[in-house]
Amino acid sequence: MHMLAGRKILLIIGGGIAAYKSLDLIRRLRERGASVVPVLTKGGAEFVTPLSVAALAGGKLYRDLFDLGDEAEMGHIQLSRAADLIVVAPATADLMSKMANGQANDLATTLLLATDKRVLIAPAMNVRMWEHAATKRNAKKLKQDGILFVGPDKGDMACGEYGPGRMAEPLAIVAAVEDALLNGPLKSRHILVTSGPTHEPIDPVRYIANRSSGAQGSAIANALAALGAKVTFVTGPARAKMPTGCTIVPVETADEMLAAVHDALPADAAVFAAAVADWKVTSASDKKIKKTKSAKLPILEFAENSDILRTISNMGKDRPQLVVGFAAETDDVLENATAKRKRKGCDWIVANDVSPETGIMGGVENDVTLITSDAAENWPRMSKDAVAHRLAEKIADTLGQDK
Ligand code: CTP
Repeated sequence: MHMLAGRKILLIIGGGIAAYKSLDLIRRLRERGASVVPVLTKGGAEFVTPLSVAALAGGKLYRDLFDLGDEAEMGHIQLSRAADLIVVAPATADLMSKMANGQANDLATTLLLATDKRVLIAPAMNVRMWEHAATKRNAKKLKQDGILFVGPDKGDMACGEYGPGRMAEPLAIVAAVEDALLNGPLKSRHILVTSGPTHEPIDPVRYIANRSSGAQGSAIANALAALGAKVTFVTGPARAKMPTGCTIVPVETADEMLAAVHDALPADAAVFAAAVADWKVTSASDKKIKKTKSAKLPILEFAENSDILRTISNMGKDRPQLVVGFAAETDDVLENATAKRKRKGCDWIVANDVSPETGIMGGVENDVTLITSDAAENWPRMSKDAVAHRLAEKIADTLGQDK
């Protein structure tokens, strides 16, 4: 029943009589575990009230591009990308025309132009309008642009005519949403993601850790799952919210992480976003070290942890087809990360500068360079969610080519 658990849908309600069905659509999507962020166009608000939309969605309703309060809270770019899928229901002839031509003169069309997510539209209009050459042209263009369609259905219309143009029923739209989200380009792919810090015990109550929040790893797992991948998420004790729709394997130490990674294989791709502790304490005590017991201060002895990324990159038979590592650097980022890619034997390295002044470690943004065997792509500074989506798309493209 909760097929859409954790999925975020941005629902744009256009101005057509079918807008009343979108109220039911919100309920049906939420029943399946999705969260719905509604955007009501001016025309849409002529057919359904903002109050009923907001009440059914159980959250904030967005209406106007120039509502400064909303811009401060969440810019339109971010709003257009925070969702896993954008649904336009009803999609009027006018909205379709604007989309086909790349217009952005209100909130809905701006979001549609700014998004990096897939868009599913449920057209609804009079039969003549649907069959008009202009609408046909627009529909063709939209399909070429990768826009997904559900409906329209044939039947009696509110205007008294009969034919194709009726908006698809809410349950048919839900089925199309499920199909778009669960049958994405990474469908039937298994991808392993490591994330978070590891804790290396000193004694039963103390440990050595690092500042990783796990935010980038969680975002990557979410983005891969949104493209339909089956994700195994092996995570150390992280502060970030766990991803949804993934198999979560919690671990504590680097040794446990390595074992969990081996257990999770085979996988088509593996993304090693964890900040694994380089050393473990070999002198760890099974009892709490008491300060009174000895006059001397404790001395910790360390051994190197196994390098999980390197082990998997060089494993031969069961090696995932694509292995992606991260390089957290504070100096000579590009040079160090390029050398790290070779040393570890992975296919790609996502390099980032974690110097304290960048605010990246523990922050919401990231500034990365993707290093592959033949190029170093510098991505503009963007949210960790956006980095995750771009990386997931790139992984989908690469695995897709090799299938
Ligand atoms: N990594 C790993 N296992 C380890 C250490 C690191 O899998 N024991 C992975 C990380 O998940 C990351 C990559 O290796 O994908 C690079 O981590 P980083 O800490 O930048 O590199 P180190 O190997 O620790 O190298 P250095 O200390 O020289 O920076």
